[in-house]
Amino acid sequence: MTKYENIFKPLQMGSIQLNHRVIMAPLTRCRADHNHNPTDLMTEYYSQRVSAAFIVSEATMVMPNCSAFGGTDPGIYSSEQIAGWKKITDSVHAKGGKIVLQLWHGGRACHPGLNQGQECVSASAIAIEGDTYTPQGKVAYTVPRALGLNEIPGIIDGFKNAAMNAKAAGFDGVEIHGANGYILDQFLRDSCNQRNDSYGGSIPNRAKLLLEVTRSVIDVWGAGKVGVRISPLNSYNSMKDSNPLELTQYVCKEFSDLKIAYLHMMRADFFGIQSGDVMTVARESFKGVLIGNMGYTPDEANTAIQKGLIDAVAFGHHYVSNPDLVERIKEGRPIVEPDESTFYSQGSAGYTDYPFRN
Ligand SMILES: Cc1cc2nc3c(=O)[nH]c(=O)nc-3n(C[C@H](O)[C@H](O)[C@H](O)COP(=O)(O)O)c2cc1C
Repeated sequence: MTKYENIFKPLQMGSIQLNHRVIMAPLTRCRADHNHNPTDLMTEYYSQRVSAAFIVSEATMVMPNCSAFGGTDPGIYSSEQIAGWKKITDSVHAKGGKIVLQLWHGGRACHPGLNQGQECVSASAIAIEGDTYTPQGKVAYTVPRALGLNEIPGIIDGFKNAAMNAKAAGFDGVEIHGANGYILDQFLRDSCNQRNDSYGGSIPNRAKLLLEVTRSVIDVWGAGKVGVRISPLNSYNSMKDSNPLELTQYVCKEFSDLKIAYLHMMRADFFGIQSGDVMTVARESFKGVLIGNMGYTPDEANTAIQKGLIDAVAFGHHYVSNPDLVERIKEGRPIVEPDESTFYSQGSAGYTDYPFRN
């Protein structure tokens, strides 16, 4: 028995059948090796979290030289990486779990110091404010090179190729990372996209790259196994938009027409600078499965599902510290808070050593 009966109802999500509605949100943890290969430690970590309705993997580089996290973020562009991920998906499946891969390119968040000296690229030549971490220490973000029109098909192909590799690696589906100020979001929002060609200016123009990537990934997987994540309000990575609600409405309608399996909405701003009710706009404009994320408690999620505001909930930081979050929620047991100092550190401490409930 559980007091959260709405959370524990099954759900058909595109062509994926879920037993309940607690999802593990994507969490970058920097435990890949320096060639961006998944490690055995990652296999252990993901295998501990298989009771999630499904796991969304950490952001994974679709092509070489787009690392934004200390050089130990994983990739899905080499045969070695595919083999490493295959071990993870096999282990998750053997334990009855499901896992989708988050497809990612960091754009202007990628420092040359992490990417063999390669300059970073974005919608426009505008840098993120502040510093990032590289093996050479803390350094300022660099000014990206604005992608030429002739280079944009290469980005789309990168996502498509990565989607094919994700299939070879045995994933159950893919999630396109259109959130948090990385390359697709850099095109979406107008603080960062100041282009005056067909990929800039109007909302349809700014959304064009994300939608082209989505279509090309659907070509590989079929719409029923493709999700998209967006964060129209999040100012992380120096992002802002002049009209986030209209932007949300436009992309949600387009995703609805494309019949993607799910829309994964980060509903707020990490820094509380931008506000607005993007969830209501998303619910009205998107007809598929809507996953809510950011600051939900089991109580709020259960009520929101009951009221039809969302269909499922994704938990982020609590999945760092509760491998058995689903069982804890179901049984009303305490939820452990994570140690932030080990979010992006190396090794098993703060990664695979969080306790299961007794
Ligand atoms: C350590 C850490 C790593 C994260 N990595 C990613 C990531 O790789 N991709 C992504 O889309 N979001 C990432 N996020 C955001 C989470 O998926 C989630 O949106 C955020 O934690 C808010 O949800 P919560 O309130 O349930 O924690 C990360 C968050 C944390 C704390």
